[in-house]
Amino acid sequence: MSMEEEAKKLRANWNYPTAVRFGVGRIAELADACKSAGMKKPLLVTDPGLAKLPMIQDALTSLRAAGLGAALFSDIRSNPVAKNVDDGLKVYHGGGHDGVIAFGGGSALDCAKTIAFMSGQKRPMWDFEDIGDWWTRADPNGIAPVIAVPTTSGTGSEVGRASVITNEETHTKKVIFHPKMMPVIVIADPALTVGLPAHVTAATGMDALAHNLEAYLAPGYHPLAEGIGVEGVRLVKEWLPVAVKDGKNLVARAHMMAAAAMGATAFQKGLGAIHALSHPVGAVYDTHHGLTNAVVMPYVLLFNRQAIEPKLIRLAAWLGLPNPSFTSVLDWVLALRKEIGIPHTLKDLGVGTDKLDLLSEMAAVDPTASGNPIPIGVPELRKMFIACIEGRLA
Ligand SMILES: NC(=O)c1ccc[n+]([C@@H]2O[C@H](COP(=O)([O-])OP(=O)(O)OC[C@H]3O[C@@H](n4cnc5c(N)ncnc54)[C@H](O)[C@@H]3O)[C@@H](O)[C@H]2O)c1
Ligand SMILES: [Fe+2]
Repeated sequence: MSMEEEAKKLRANWNYPTAVRFGVGRIAELADACKSAGMKKPLLVTDPGLAKLPMIQDALTSLRAAGLGAALFSDIRSNPVAKNVDDGLKVYHGGGHDGVIAFGGGSALDCAKTIAFMSGQKRPMWDFEDIGDWWTRADPNGIAPVIAVPTTSGTGSEVGRASVITNEETHTKKVIFHPKMMPVIVIADPALTVGLPAHVTAATGMDALAHNLEAYLAPGYHPLAEGIGVEGVRLVKEWLPVAVKDGKNLVARAHMMAAAAMGATAFQKGLGAIHALSHPVGAVYDTHHGLTNAVVMPYVLLFNRQAIEPKLIRLAAWLGLPNPSFTSVLDWVLALRKEIGIPHTLKDLGVGTDKLDLLSEMAAVDPTASGNPIPIGVPELRKMFIACIEGRLA
């Protein structure tokens, strides 16, 4: 079977965790999806890099051809900030829009989802941070519908109920959460990712791996999430190196797009120290989220060894690693990082020891820290940061 024939078979409609139209070429259904979601005048939100690519112009042309009054907003940055949401809201209200098309990587998706969420709220955005039941403060009737179109295979934000927005005043990454932030329709078209550069493919793919892995390892009884997590890890193992080496391989692109959605579906169970370490580094040094996760991953696995060993033996068997053990998984992660060009230390990302105290304190209060298999506070996180900066795998 040729690669094209194989890729064509990877096509389906899923209704879990939301309506997902999955398959090569399905971006052609964008206008139809808008109509199904009741939109007549969608605002397409993307990032400035993508806005220059033909895929965005093509999408706008197809929407207009279908009689939809579409407009574009792309004034957002990587690791989006509150100002990006505020600016988008002005365009949304000024243009009289009735829904949002979230088109891009995690940065664009998160910003777009937050614009739709905030479009009918009276309270300020930070009142809806993912703390306790703060989401119940929101008016659920004031949330505009979202159609999500992912163009990276990493964050899985297209099937997520939260957005990550950086608070520039406090230099912290905040999670804004509401169950109704979940996009009503996702168009997951792997062909949109063929132009993703190899290093971005690698970094975003490692975010998908981090989600599946941390969700599987987080404590708590959630066999649904664990089942998704282990298969998500397997898809990354089989297909991430292929996608990095040959970006045009649509079979690899499809499996990575599925793995990303699986990661975000699974992490309703929880994340852990990979994300707790990565969030402050991303907020303070503006590093790429997936790349930062990839760097810290082996150090966190080692720190958690005692608590996760039995689960990693099961995972190793599922992955088909020789002599299934904690070490076989660790060695596989190290080899994968090397193969796809991930640096070994946080020092390589420009992180020094001068901000150790700040980073450790920020990590300790990050909401993902509570999902770590071993309870962690400032001293444990500090120890992990030092290992990550110095590259100490002992
Ligand atoms: N909502 C969530 O659950 C969640 C989970 C993890 C991370 N995040 C957040 O997501 C953000 C990171 O998202 P990301 O990793 O997808 O990266 P990104 O959205 O920042 O995109 C990275 C770069 O890739 C480019 N790009 C995207 N798609 C492309 C394509 N098809 N072809 C060519 N270039 C393309 C973009 O223009 C950008 O320059 C961070 O802010 C992170 O905190 C959110
Ligand atoms: Fe992540």
